[in-house]
Amino acid sequence: AESRLQAGFDATIGKDQRIEPRDWMPEGYRRTLVRQIAQHAHSEIIGMQPEGEWITRAPSLRRKAILFAKVQDEAGHGLYLYSAAETLGADRADLTERLISGRQKYSSIFNYPTPTFADVGVIGWFVDGAAICNQVPLCRSSYGPYARAMVRICKEESFHQRQGYELLLTMMRGTQAQRAMVQDAVDRWWWPSLMMFGPPDGDSPNSAASMAWKIKRHTNDELRQRFVDMTVPQAEKLGVTLPDPQLRWNEKRGRHDFGTPDWSELKRVIAGDGPCNDERVARRTAAHEDGAWVREAAAAHAAKQAARAQA
Ligand code: ACO
Repeated sequence: AESRLQAGFDATIGKDQRIEPRDWMPEGYRRTLVRQIAQHAHSEIIGMQPEGEWITRAPSLRRKAILFAKVQDEAGHGLYLYSAAETLGADRADLTERLISGRQKYSSIFNYPTPTFADVGVIGWFVDGAAICNQVPLCRSSYGPYARAMVRICKEESFHQRQGYELLLTMMRGTQAQRAMVQDAVDRWWWPSLMMFGPPDGDSPNSAASMAWKIKRHTNDELRQRFVDMTVPQAEKLGVTLPDPQLRWNEKRGRHDFGTPDWSELKRVIAGDGPCNDERVARRTAAHEDGAWVREAAAAHAAKQAARAQA
């Protein structure tokens, strides 16, 4: 029976059709999806912190309203993704436990500090730009609930990317000090943004299976290249320099050549030793503990309602 089920699953993947929650799926497929979707959800939630720090300090009411909306969108993305993980049998409380105890990962990028307001712009431009490169293909991911969540998330990410770029264009039209602030943020975020795509293909243990299952549609290096090609003309238009002396157009390949990120830095940050890992996890833990009474009250209310419905 198992081999018939496996053959059905393989046929669905082969025809580029979607796997849905009630369909049979191999255990490895389920595990990989829970791992990737949970890590993605955690990234959205932890990702609220670096920019959230600027909500009280945004330079105008307009910028504050925009930033507020953006950070709220991120909470929403986290919730769609936790829901997608729940369709696979995961439990959201358990996933949160795994995040705060360090047993599940979140994106390395959110462990870097945001010392200036230009960081808000550069996060929108680079980090949300990289998220779009990585996530647009995930709209065609083989697991239905994940792919559908991605459609809406990508629309919102594209608004986020534009708000970042527009903020930077405004700063670049400002004073010399503002232009220097933008360049400094670009210098700090460029390499960590390239690392968001994950380790190089030769060092990416999950890629082969995820590609065969059509969870991932492109390898880490393919998406990194796509991001570089997309970003270079935007940097020129903005008037900033990307901090890579090896970055140049390769006429033969029709793509940009670029330098190698410091992979040992990525490993360190993933292992918990980045500039802000402790702070991010401590903040998430405190929020979880402070919210305990809300969860208890909601559960008590639901239990009362259920008892009343039975009576
Ligand atoms: N930060 C933290 N961990 C990472 C990163 C990163 N930038 N890149 C890779 N890893 C982890 C992987 O999760 C994996 O660890 P695990 O096996 O314990 O889960 C390990 O490093 C090896 O990497 P890969 O084999 O390449 O892992 P995978 O095939 O899952 O590819 C990738 C990693 C590209 C991040 C993939 O999981 C993905 O596309 N995820 C969905 C997008 C996402 O999570 N984005 C989050 C940031 S964007 C945002 O939230 C705005």
